[in-house]
Amino acid sequence: MTRKILVTSALPYANGSIHLGHLVEYIQTDIWVRFQKMRGNTCHYVCADDTHGTPIMLRAEKEGITPEQLIARVWQEHYDDFRAFHVAFDNYGSTNSNETKESAQSIYRTLKANGLIEVRSIEQYYDPVKNMFLPDRFIKGECPKCHAKDQYGDNCEVCGAAYAPTDLIAPFSAVSGAKPELRNSDHYFFKLSADSCQQFLRQWTRGGSLQQEAANKMQEWLGAEGENKLSDWDISRDAPYFGFEIPDAPGKYFYVWLDAPVGYMGSFKQLCAKSGLDFNDYWKQGSDAELYHFIGKDILYFHALFWPAMLQHAGFRTPTKLFAHGFLTVNGEKMSKSRGTFITARSYVDHIKNTEYLRYYYAAKLNGTMEDIDLNLEDFVAKVNSDLIGKYINIASRCAGFISKKFDGKLGNFDSAATAEFQTAFADGEIARCYEERDYSRALREIMRLADVANQYIAEKQPWAMAKQEGKDAELHEVCSTALTMFRDLTLYLKPVMPELAAQVENFLNIKPIAWSGTWQSLPAGHTINEYKHLATRLDPKLIEAMVAANQESLKPMTDSHSETRHAEHQQHAISPIADTISIDDFGKIDLRVAHIVNAEHVDGAEKLLKLTLDIGEAQPRTVFAGIKSAYDPEKLKGRMTVMVANLAPRKMKFGMSEGMVLAASGEAPGLFILSPDTGAQPGMRIK
Ligand code: 2FM
Ligand code: ZN
Repeated sequence: MTRKILVTSALPYANGSIHLGHLVEYIQTDIWVRFQKMRGNTCHYVCADDTHGTPIMLRAEKEGITPEQLIARVWQEHYDDFRAFHVAFDNYGSTNSNETKESAQSIYRTLKANGLIEVRSIEQYYDPVKNMFLPDRFIKGECPKCHAKDQYGDNCEVCGAAYAPTDLIAPFSAVSGAKPELRNSDHYFFKLSADSCQQFLRQWTRGGSLQQEAANKMQEWLGAEGENKLSDWDISRDAPYFGFEIPDAPGKYFYVWLDAPVGYMGSFKQLCAKSGLDFNDYWKQGSDAELYHFIGKDILYFHALFWPAMLQHAGFRTPTKLFAHGFLTVNGEKMSKSRGTFITARSYVDHIKNTEYLRYYYAAKLNGTMEDIDLNLEDFVAKVNSDLIGKYINIASRCAGFISKKFDGKLGNFDSAATAEFQTAFADGEIARCYEERDYSRALREIMRLADVANQYIAEKQPWAMAKQEGKDAELHEVCSTALTMFRDLTLYLKPVMPELAAQVENFLNIKPIAWSGTWQSLPAGHTINEYKHLATRLDPKLIEAMVAANQESLKPMTDSHSETRHAEHQQHAISPIADTISIDDFGKIDLRVAHIVNAEHVDGAEKLLKLTLDIGEAQPRTVFAGIKSAYDPEKLKGRMTVMVANLAPRKMKFGMSEGMVLAASGEAPGLFILSPDTGAQPGMRIK
């Protein structure tokens, strides 16, 4: 019976590039989807860019473009990267779509009608300069526990303590530097603490949809029977916010994590529109289709609690299973820019080109559990060269030439006894079971065992020696034909992992896409194959070295900005050469002062300048013309503290006298950033 399956991978944020860490999941999912399709099941694979939220809004603002422009650019980049790695979505959408909006709003309306939405006023930090409420990751300050400076509002990266932003000592806005104020605002909550949610989740999380490790974690989060440990989930954010407005709640937007999983539905709706599939057939309660979400273990909470509870109470089916995987380490450590191991998909393609090698290596490491996997770069080269080239490709390259040269490209009889192991493997279905269970490492071990059988056969028969002996042609013909049948089988099994290579082999063997069903058959005698052309080359370790060096040297601006939920490394910028050394006396000549921006305004006719009125504690404020118009709205500068050079000779400018200079940082990345002193600094204080 063919199964109806819908598969998703987590939606990548639209504010950063795809890197090798992301690819673990997309490759894992794509292999599974390809396997299902090869087995004759109806299987659809959808994904989308996750486009909403504060980081995207602020990044677009910094780049001087609209969020829509930013997400369109990133979408194309992601789409191209996935294609390069043969990740074949049936639809790749965006959460910023009408389909996702409709679904999110209708789910919300049903939850509300079912009494599961509650409005509550909450007190939260507000940035009075930027005029916005601040997400926890945009508030910084001193850790209340270990007193480390410059820590995020949700946890300390030095001592690991978790806390509320209001616990921070001397908090400041990471957006403007301003001291945040506590303000009240109405927020919309999904009542996860309701009995119906708790009961449902207790039963759902034990119902076999989660890996054991994940199910145990959920029991911890849910607490013991009768204990109500789940708090209600805050699903709204105040304007300004890039997202969907909540129905009948002007100025309130769905929190990005509310509409992110709904993006699975939105993307599938788009697939339905183009392929005639029925949305309800896959999503309505009682659907007989299977639904699988591949995710990283860090986002289990959202997928194992919030998402099923939302679906259940809005009249939809719940996921059949969640498949969570671990994180990627490179050479045994967290990916790191300074070590050159924070490698983007694009950089891999530019240096290594063959993306199926990475697919193979990841597959050899993935076993369907939540354990982390390590990409050891030396082992990567060794494995590709020994398994793929040394064992697999070698079979064809040693036998195909004789068929073309001596037998006019036609295959002969095959040696049934020699292929016994292959016939048994096909009938037994162990490799298929491993794929089904996502234990790809075991599948590949079995495939490589069969490759060893084929190589032993060739080594024993020595076709190259036979070719030189009189009267051995029939045997040579049989050995090579048999070896190519073995090669065909190995190609079938490797096809979910290496689809492009498999297509090249099908072309070389002149056969239709290999079927993974029915009974085992050899390649038929008399069948004509095409001339063997080089199928794959050894992986040169120098390419890896060059890739690592390029990632180390380039010190590109950090392209991954997962920091809101995934704590990637901090941003590193390309730096211009450091200027000549000066003495402390030289430095002392510059009188830097804390300045209060009393007023900021546009200057008629000036393209780049803003006119600033700066108080540095003198009797009269100073006027300074600053070239920061491209980066700052004057209204939002008023009231801020910054830093100025107070003893710079006054300069007569076209628009008036400039009595100093404000300092701003800029680099190769877009943007211009004026400085802010720490909270507490007073106008006129000297900076030394
Ligand atoms: O963690 C992340 O990168 C999120 N963008 C994943 C969203 S998955 C789903 F819920 F959409
Ligand atoms: Zn700390």
